[in-house]
This record gives sequence, structure tokens and C-alpha cells, in this order.
Amino acid sequence: MIPAWLDWVLDSTVIFSWTSIGYYIRRPFFEKTSGVRLDNVTAVVTGATSGIGQATARELGARGATVVAIGRDPTRLESTVAEIVRKTGNPRIRGELADLSSMEETRRLATRLLRDHPQIHVLVNDAGIIPPAVHQYTSEGIELTTATNLVAPYLLTTLLLPRLRESSSSLPTHPTQPDPAVPQAPPLGEVSRVINVTSGAVWGHRLDIDYMNPSPLVYNTKKVYCNSKRGLIAMTEHFAAREMQNGSNVTLNTVHPGLVYSGGFTNIFPWLSIFVAPLLRSPEQGADTIIWMICSPEAAAFNGQMLFDRRPRPTHHFLLRRATQGTAHDVAMCVDEVERLSHA
Ligand SMILES: NC(=O)c1ccc[n+]([C@@H]2O[C@H](COP(=O)([O-])OP(=O)(O)OC[C@H]3O[C@@H](n4cnc5c(N)ncnc54)[C@H](OP(=O)(O)O)[C@@H]3O)[C@@H](O)[C@H]2O)c1
Repeated sequence: MIPAWLDWVLDSTVIFSWTSIGYYIRRPFFEKTSGVRLDNVTAVVTGATSGIGQATARELGARGATVVAIGRDPTRLESTVAEIVRKTGNPRIRGELADLSSMEETRRLATRLLRDHPQIHVLVNDAGIIPPAVHQYTSEGIELTTATNLVAPYLLTTLLLPRLRESSSSLPTHPTQPDPAVPQAPPLGEVSRVINVTSGAVWGHRLDIDYMNPSPLVYNTKKVYCNSKRGLIAMTEHFAAREMQNGSNVTLNTVHPGLVYSGGFTNIFPWLSIFVAPLLRSPEQGADTIIWMICSPEAAAFNGQMLFDRRPRPTHHFLLRRATQGTAHDVAMCVDEVERLSHA
């Protein structure tokens, strides 16, 4: 494990932490999980047609998991599934079409998932967009970024949670270990996982409960993105506390992937990304903590946290905390509002 003081110093600089520099400094300290197989695990991954979500789906497939890749474009989804099957030799990769900005489609997706998969052990809510320059409402009257980045993960999680709870007892405690060179794999633990992909950008933003479904008049792309990702953290903390109180074997955490050479960065900074490409993380590096959280029994202990480079991190920068820290009341109001929007 990297010394805590060095990790803290790196993180405080942001640039030496979130870029590939931080990844390369920490990597030698990472626990080895390359031998961990996930043959009996079923994982649902949204945003699987590109970037971090695609890297996640591919790695889970390579470890033998049944992967349900969610995408909104039939051609991209088909080619993603075909490519993962070809590269990993795992035939248990399925594609499911859904536009997650629509709550009706998200509900229909959940119905199909529950019908076709008697067990679901992992849900990775990765799909997300960079807000368009001009405000857009979905046909259900929700601002587009909020619908995609926050309300859909909330709804999908709510609808799949009962199945995740039931499936936790069927998780393999001793995953198969095909590589004899790798020492005895640690047990996975009987804990289903929900992993929500948020962003380090929340460090500069306070949850604004009056901005949960912003109108065109107050639309600001940076604010709407950060509020959706702050809301995702609030929602995760809310669900995590409730699951723990009810004694369920499902943990919910967020992961912040760092600065990654994929749509979440290149769509905001198309020119800058060309020049800083070597400093950005690859999608595989962006997905590393997500994969570790699924493979490592140590990670089963985390609940309601934000992780980055395999460690829980504060959700506020220590210099900005006073300005960005919300209240428990804000979190409750946010969850109520997202719940209301999810019925659209
Ligand atoms: N890249 C970064 O530096 C960075 C930093 C912080 C956080 N993040 C977060 O990490 C996550 C993944 O980002 P990325 O960089 O990998 O982005 P990406 O390459 O643009 O991938 C985003 C994925 O989400 C899917 N998606 C978007 N809207 C959707 C909708 N309405 N319905 C269904 N799927 C939808 C996209 O599908 P299509 O293929 O059809 O477009 C794509 O598969 C996002 O939540 C992002 O906010 C990224």
C-alpha cells in the first residue's frame, strides 16, 4: 500500500494524482488481482460502448464474468459485444439496448434484466454525458444531463437492488484460479456491488438542491455536470446507509476515474486532449479501481465511499470543504427530488 502521506500529498496537487503520473506512482503498491476469475459473476455495465465502461466490460469478460453491456446505439453495441467476445473468448457477453436518458426505457431495461438474469451480482453505472452547449429537456421533461447522469442510475439501482440482494449469497467465495503461478486467490466475499462512476470535478462544487432539474434560464454546463455527479454521490451514500441498516449484503460506492483519454474528457477539451494525451489515463487505467472493487475481498468492506486509485477519498478538497460541504438535509432533499423525477 502506498504510504498514506505520499498519497495525500499527490492527491492534494490534483494534477500529479488524477493524470497517468499518479497512476504510475501508485501502481507498484497495488494488490495483485490478475489471477482473480469471475466465472460465476453476472455484471451489468452501462456506458459499455465506449471509454471507461467499455474497458470495464472487456476486463470483466476476460475474467469469465457474464457481462450485460448496456448501450443506446445498436451498431456500437453490436460491435462492442462482438469485439469483447473475440478478444476474451468469453461467449457470455450480452448486449442490451436502452437510452438511459429516458426513464421509460430504463424501466423497460430493468424488466428485461430481471426476466433474463436470475442472478445479478454487480451493477456498474458508468454511462454519463458532458452537457450539451444548449439546454435540452428529455421528452419526459427532465434536463438531459441530470436524466442520464443521475436519475437513470438512481432508477436502475432501485429496480435491480432486490435482485442484487438475493444474488449476494450465490457469489463464489473461492473464485476459480486457472493460473497456478498466482498464489491462492482471496475469497470474493458474499457481497454484491453497485459502483457509480462520478467525477473529481465535484471537489469544486456544492450540491445545489434548487438545481436538480435546471430550467434553460439558469443552465450552465459546468454546474449541471457537477451537480449531477454530486447528486450521484449523495444518492450512493443514501442507498449505502439504508442497505447497511437493513443488514443487506449489497455495498454501494462511487469511483472517480481520474482524467481519462475518453469521451468524458475529449468531448470537453477536444484540442487540449491532443496535446495532453500522454498525461491522461487510458480507459483501462480509468477502469482499474472499478475492476479492483469487484475482484478484491478488501473492497467488499467499503460502503458509501468515493474511491480513486483503490482507496477511499474525501468527497471534498480540504481547502474547499467549507464552501462545498452540504448538509444531511441537502442529501435527503436531493434524493427526494431524484425519486420524484424518476417517476417521469
Ligand atoms: N474521461 C474522464 O476523464 C472522466 C472524468 C471523470 C468522470 N468521468 C465519468 O466516467 C464515465 C464514463 O466516461 P467516459 O470518459 O468513458 O465517456 P464516454 O467515452 O463518452 O462514454 C460514455 C458512455 O455512456 C454512454 N451513454 C451516454 N448517454 C447515454 C444514454 N442516454 N443512454 C445510454 N448510454 C449512454 C455512451 O454511449 P454512446 O457510445 O452511445 O455515446 C458511452 O458508452 C462518465 O460517467 C463520465 O462522466 C470521466
